[in-house]
Amino acid sequence: MSPSFIETQLPISKLSKESYKERKSNYSQTLTGLGKWWGRKPLILVRATILGLLLPSTDDPKRDREIFLKLLMMDEEGLWLRKTKAISLKEVWERLNTKERQEWFAEEGKLRAKITKDEREALQKLVFGKLSYDHKLEYCDRPEQMDNLSESAWQEINAHLGTSATNLSEFVQQLGIKRFGHIPRVGDAFCGGGSIPFEAARIGCEAYGSDLNPVAALLTWAALNIVGGGEEVAEQVREAQQSVYDAVDQQIREWGIEHNELGWRADAYLYCVETLCPECGWKVPLAPSWVIAAKYGVIGELVTDDFNKCIQIEIREDANSHQINLAKKQGTLSNSQLICPHCNQTNPIQAIRGDRRMKEGTQYGLRLWKNNDLVPSADDVLQERLYCIRWIETYLDEKGLKKTRRHYRAPDKSDLQSEVMVLELVKARFANWKEKGYIPSRKIEEGAETTRLFREKGWTHWHHLFNPRQLLLYGLISDFSFQKAHLNIEKVSLILRLGCCLNWNSKLVIWNSDISKGPGSTEQTFVNQAFNTQYNYGIRTVTTLEKTFFGVDINSCNLGNDSKILSADARQVIESCDFWITDPPYADAVNYHELSEFFLAWYEKHIPKLFPDWYADTKSALAITGRDSHFRESMSECYCNLANNMPEDGMQVVMFTHQDASVWADLALILWASGLRVTAAWCIATETDSGLKVGNYVQGTVLLILRKQTSDETAFLDEIYPKVELEVKRQLDEMLRLEDKEEPNFGDTDYQLAAYAAALRVLTQYKTIEDIDIQYELSKTRKKGDKSPIVEIIDNAVKIACDYLVPANFDSFIWKSITPEERFYLKGLDIESHGEYRSSVYQELARGFGLKDYKFCLETSKANENRLKTASEFANKNLGDLGFGSSLTRTALYAIREVVTSEEAQKGKMLLRSEVRDYWQQRRLIIEILKYLGTMEYKIPHWDKDAKAATLLAGAVDNDSL
Ligand SMILES: C[S@@+](CC[C@H](N)C(=O)[O-])C[C@H]1O[C@@H](n2cnc3c(N)ncnc32)[C@H](O)[C@@H]1O
Ligand SMILES: [Zn+2]
Repeated sequence: MSPSFIETQLPISKLSKESYKERKSNYSQTLTGLGKWWGRKPLILVRATILGLLLPSTDDPKRDREIFLKLLMMDEEGLWLRKTKAISLKEVWERLNTKERQEWFAEEGKLRAKITKDEREALQKLVFGKLSYDHKLEYCDRPEQMDNLSESAWQEINAHLGTSATNLSEFVQQLGIKRFGHIPRVGDAFCGGGSIPFEAARIGCEAYGSDLNPVAALLTWAALNIVGGGEEVAEQVREAQQSVYDAVDQQIREWGIEHNELGWRADAYLYCVETLCPECGWKVPLAPSWVIAAKYGVIGELVTDDFNKCIQIEIREDANSHQINLAKKQGTLSNSQLICPHCNQTNPIQAIRGDRRMKEGTQYGLRLWKNNDLVPSADDVLQERLYCIRWIETYLDEKGLKKTRRHYRAPDKSDLQSEVMVLELVKARFANWKEKGYIPSRKIEEGAETTRLFREKGWTHWHHLFNPRQLLLYGLISDFSFQKAHLNIEKVSLILRLGCCLNWNSKLVIWNSDISKGPGSTEQTFVNQAFNTQYNYGIRTVTTLEKTFFGVDINSCNLGNDSKILSADARQVIESCDFWITDPPYADAVNYHELSEFFLAWYEKHIPKLFPDWYADTKSALAITGRDSHFRESMSECYCNLANNMPEDGMQVVMFTHQDASVWADLALILWASGLRVTAAWCIATETDSGLKVGNYVQGTVLLILRKQTSDETAFLDEIYPKVELEVKRQLDEMLRLEDKEEPNFGDTDYQLAAYAAALRVLTQYKTIEDIDIQYELSKTRKKGDKSPIVEIIDNAVKIACDYLVPANFDSFIWKSITPEERFYLKGLDIESHGEYRSSVYQELARGFGLKDYKFCLETSKANENRLKTASEFANKNLGDLGFGSSLTRTALYAIREVVTSEEAQKGKMLLRSEVRDYWQQRRLIIEILKYLGTMEYKIPHWDKDAKAATLLAGAVDNDSL
């Protein structure tokens, strides 16, 4: 079996940048608009993975890479085709050299006369060509937004691979037929939000997707069938949405519950919790800040009401900046303490709730809500009150044109009556709607994330997370959805639209009053991966939910092949796939099964009707979480099953978040025990700013490439070590050989990571290793500090890599003769000169050199700001201490500092002569170190002075004679 492209190379730097671009585009991402899921993988990463699996690796790796980039439209031509934004005249001017400026410009800011359209295009192309990859991307659409490659690109691709494709689907199918005799089948048994099956289907594969969680299965089904249903489905869905929206709007108008007597319509209601101050007995409203909309000077002003013994909230729309600041500071809640504006005493909320610590754990103080409670009952400790309504008034201006203006008001009597009416309306429908599944009836199960709902609010059922207005609105949406929609596709789409509304409008949303939020707005429920209860929250109305209800336009496509989506435990999957690509819940610490109940509670009665062979339960007992022995065993069962459902020449890719060696070792063990062997590993920066390789490295996504383990060979541990050494070196040589000097593909950490992969490759190629009992290692409960034999092999591999990677401009022979501490320092400078400040990188490097302590070398050790001391910063610290303090490098640094302070190279030289015992024998070595430090002059700005001194000193030592 010849290797696949992805087993020999992957353009990880460009891919990281593309993934980052996709992530950053937020709501215009293709699948995110369908509904919330945690940890969706970028589609470009999935596309690259599948193509990388399908593409063979030929004996011309350079051409392989060019073709691969072409397919992804990440080559020069592809980028140019993707360019949709014009480069500004200012930027054009800045990028041109003098000659070019004369050729194109009359003067700065003004092009010469009579420039044709074609010329303008040529100028754009000229400048575009000068930009770096990141910079180019700013002007480009994403590859997935492009219809097709150019005809000439297909000619080149076909010539290289012996295909005859005119588009990506044909290409994928032809390669599949060459390799497997049929269209390639790609499966994901942990499909989550559906990125993997969706992208597989979009580029022409047959797709299979399943997830233990039915909410995930629903999102994946929608990805393939709604987004993948083409224009026709998109239109159907839109019409269905419109008719439901109109019906809901009509009903709300008829009831008049979002209007006031002046005919204004409400577009936000703000509520807060209220409680009695334990000190003075007054009723106090709770909020961390009383600013409502900073930009428009809207605040709530707290006023004492002696008669009713409570604090009233008056709404002001004309606050100046001083008053706004005051309202911000005068929150009645800070650090979980109630601050009473009447008596100025503070009391912890925990005490107000009456929580008590018992032997068996904390006993909640709050009354637990009954199923049919819709609001707090009269004697509950935490009450709730409506304190502000944002109204929209529509009027005609003097020209007779329709205009709107906003008003913020405290609720008046009729508004409060309207609240009562809403409650009555919900009560009247409660039983019927629950019966039909239009509103939830499910109980909240206690779990890691949900416990706080009981403790902080007393909520026991999922509908308690919504206020009566929200319940009424959602009940109506569901009711009309099932009245109006006939096709499954319409029903699923409407259910998911409801889900989006739930996320953006529950009692768990923050009211954001920042200036940037204009009139104030609500955030989503899941701003992070937790249930965050609030003391004050804002709710939306029909009009402010409109955008969420309709969602962004579906970026639709037509998926031709069959796909199959199921809710199923990965252990139970019985489908066979050529490629399994999975992103298991491994070390990501998201409690999918608990968080998704928030949605499932609203879907559960519909799912079995829509999908008779699915279940509607999160099956929390089967959900894979944690990292203990039970977790390892269940993961191994899953992967064993997937390996069994794959042909001999099939392959797998497992994605996981890059962390330390023990995470790698665990996963390696799991996969190895499942009958798989590692053939390659790559790390792509997919999350947040790591696309730019800043921020923390743990955010990278590792792709482990695997094949079936078919060998019968057994090895001994001591045979493994030398093999790992050879493999690490081979891998590093290969990477260095493929590296592009102009636009580096690999960073420092990628080389270290390559060592992990090399170790796993050697290890997993055997059926067994005599000294490792796989089953025992899987089931073992590890104590802190316990090192499995696999971790030791990996650690050793990293050591080999660190020693092998001599910094640029350093003699590799001399490198071997210096101590590990010196190597750490000198290599560290090399890394620092690449703009690397992440602590994890220096930590890993120190581990690689086997150092326990390296902090003495650091000038700053703050996260993401790590950097090494310069010669001047070292001054005379640690001089003469064992280890680094008495090394040649340390003495050389001291001598440099001497040159800097005395401004005389000779003084530095004299110091070296007297401090270095066998100066004359060591002279070459000293010169090498000094010269290397001298190269930092242009690489690290704060080395300027010291580096110049190092170069001078190197000259002086070089010219020295007896
Ligand atoms: C990291 S997410 C996958 C995200 C997905 N790749 C995407 O792009 O959206 C992991 C998924 O594994 C699912 N899961 C957990 N235990 C499972 C099991 N035993 N069988 C199948 N799926 C499981 C979770 O529900 C979750 O959706
Ligand atoms: Zn008080």
